[in-house]
Amino acid sequence: MLTILVGGFFGDEGKGKVAAYLALKDSPSLSVRTGSINAGHTVTYMGKQWKVRIIPSAFVNKSTYLGLGPGALTSIDVLLTEAKETNALDRIYIDPHVGIITESEVREERNDEYLMKTVGSTGQGVGYAEAKRILRKLKLAKDYGILSKYIANIPELIVEKLEKNEGVLVEGTQGHYLSLYHGEYPYVTSRNTSASGVLSEIGVGPKYVDHVIVVFKSYVTRVGEGPLEGEVSWEEAEKLGIAEVATVTGRKRRSAPFNIKLAKEAVRINSATQVAITKLDSLFKEAKGVRDYSKLPQEAKKWIEQIEEELKAPITLIGTGEDALDMIDLRKEKLGGD
Ligand code: IMP
Ligand code: MG
Repeated sequence: MLTILVGGFFGDEGKGKVAAYLALKDSPSLSVRTGSINAGHTVTYMGKQWKVRIIPSAFVNKSTYLGLGPGALTSIDVLLTEAKETNALDRIYIDPHVGIITESEVREERNDEYLMKTVGSTGQGVGYAEAKRILRKLKLAKDYGILSKYIANIPELIVEKLEKNEGVLVEGTQGHYLSLYHGEYPYVTSRNTSASGVLSEIGVGPKYVDHVIVVFKSYVTRVGEGPLEGEVSWEEAEKLGIAEVATVTGRKRRSAPFNIKLAKEAVRINSATQVAITKLDSLFKEAKGVRDYSKLPQEAKKWIEQIEEELKAPITLIGTGEDALDMIDLRKEKLGGD
């Protein structure tokens, strides 16, 4: 069973938490990350918190093998540091084609006023490394001896697992509206963040996909520049309980209420088979920590049901707190079978 997880807004929807939950519940044999170190995924489990930029959030399940697909990019330092911190050194596999970001791409990006100021880049060198890859000038994982013990053919490994009926969880990064193709260019990142982009990054064709889960937060946040419909001031966001600070850069995030129009388009372009909604407890305080749908406050249920009706896709997972297991899971009821 191949499941792809993607963000439906501008990143920071809580994919890390959803991925960690699915890893703990479904015990996938393998979890593969796409994207790069500009992403920051937060995982909280059993009183501990990690902020990972490249290791798949499924690391919380020690029986899950972890992989980086050929389209991913990382710096060697971030990769090895995080692999140590998450106890993943003995179960991480990197495709030989993973792009390697060095100090020089970071420096070039940070000196690029257009990227840093106009676009609001995170300055992690990802865009410059992607550009060099397109120009065929970037070095890849296979070129670095220090990585040789982690190298594996990820597309082949994924299909091997699927043919044995094992679970594979693919973790996309950022969000639909930061996609190089589908977001509001030039206020976008350097890759296609949508489900089809994720597939091309892992090197597996569409016929293998069983589920695409699009993750939305109960409100919208955006870091960096570009349009944000319904944006509220930082003070207003604090009052509403939707004020956030970015994981990688520490910048204040911009906030707006849930946007059904954006959500509909993300569901369509990503061909969602399921929708996850996170941080419901930010909108409805009494939802905090609830793990049983029937125990949600009436108004929260009504809010969920209205959105589901408009999106015409089942809302199967609802996040109600920080811990990976603070989740209402409606997959059995709404999808049947498993
Ligand atoms: P870059 O990809 O770091 O160059 O950043 C380009 C734009 O995407 C900027 O607006 C960033 O703030 C945004 N961005 C990149 N990665 C993330 C992420 O993981 N979460 C949220 N925004 C991101
Ligand atoms: Mg993030």
